[in-house]
Amino acid sequence: MAVITEIKDLKRIYERRVPRMFYDYAESGSWTEQTFRENTSDFDQLRLRQRVAVDMTGRSTTSEMIGQEVAMPVALAPVGLTGMQHADGEIKAAKAAEEFDVPFTLSTMSICSIEAVAEKTSKPFWFQLYTMKDEGYVRRLIERAKAAKCSALVITLDLQILGQRHKDLKNGLSAPPKLTPKTIVNLMTKWTWGLQMLGTKNREFGNIVGHVDGISDTSQLGAWTAEQFDPSLDWGKIAKIKEMWGGKVILKGILDAEDAKMALKVGADAIIVSNHGGRQLDGAMSSIKMLPSILDAVGDQIEVHLDSGIRSGQDVLKAVAMGAKGTYIGRAYIYGLGAMGQAGVSKALEVIHKELDISMALCGKRKISELDQDVLLVPKDFT
Ligand code: FNR
Repeated sequence: MAVITEIKDLKRIYERRVPRMFYDYAESGSWTEQTFRENTSDFDQLRLRQRVAVDMTGRSTTSEMIGQEVAMPVALAPVGLTGMQHADGEIKAAKAAEEFDVPFTLSTMSICSIEAVAEKTSKPFWFQLYTMKDEGYVRRLIERAKAAKCSALVITLDLQILGQRHKDLKNGLSAPPKLTPKTIVNLMTKWTWGLQMLGTKNREFGNIVGHVDGISDTSQLGAWTAEQFDPSLDWGKIAKIKEMWGGKVILKGILDAEDAKMALKVGADAIIVSNHGGRQLDGAMSSIKMLPSILDAVGDQIEVHLDSGIRSGQDVLKAVAMGAKGTYIGRAYIYGLGAMGQAGVSKALEVIHKELDISMALCGKRKISELDQDVLLVPKDFT
């Protein structure tokens, strides 16, 4: 049995166990992947200030995100097709998050439906909305999220137009995978994955199939989805969706101070500084580099969260010390899920928690609320 001490260990097992097309789907960025790479390498440019002789007994990583108590300021980001990384993936990730006491966000493009996740969990989760051209569908989706008692709506703003990832096109990405000579050869080496999939009914996009006229199975889905992302989404529409929802709203995909000011105007409860994990605008700056200017613009008026590039508890510490109230992990938990199902997501959370706890202590800080710029050594040309 492999000894798992860091997120990279989970990634190695994940790569061995999951069909290539789903590994590539997660482990890639758009076009040249510059933004995808810099999301992680920019964290490495930030250094930490070691402090000593501070009493570290009774320290804690607990905090709050949008008024909700969390065991650490880390939520699970919405990730499409999670149920293809491991059977019932969204349910398993949600359960691991629930046990750890951190928020789970369910993607519109999930395999397990809102109802399936609600049925198998006991704490409210957050629902991520992609705005689609079909307004009736968006309205029904919002009603379903309300009925499932989701406690926040995360509206993703950076995917009005789908970015391009070369590998997905070359692999012919689909859920479930289409059987071609190439995929059959690959699937034969991933038989544990195949067995899991045979054991579940959740194999198609549960929030879409059966909920849209004319879409009764996955074969009709690709064209519908590609055509449905709403290129006309603007601040007026965002305000309408917020009103329709009536609860807490988090706007995801803000990477510019001017957009952050607009998010404030529409009355969002929080924003997520994000470039979608480097999957949308290649060439965009990393989230961690854009965070300071966004905090300068709106940081004292709205809760600012961050994702893209977090692979360790030290990355969480750096983002929070810079001023983010919360962070999200995407790939870091997907590696765990693909590697070991629910236990793998729990392991990813444990690893990140331990790294955060130890690093905080070695920086001389006992509580999340004590973390500030003081902890960081930021290179002069960082932003
Ligand atoms: C995503 N992301 C995403 N975001 C969203 O709002 N809805 C979605 O359905 C998806 N789907 C998705 C699939 C995969 C495979 C990945 C890796 C990411 C973006 C996600 O929520 C988050 O912004 C990034 O994952 C953060 O970057 P890291 O942590 O993966 O580096």
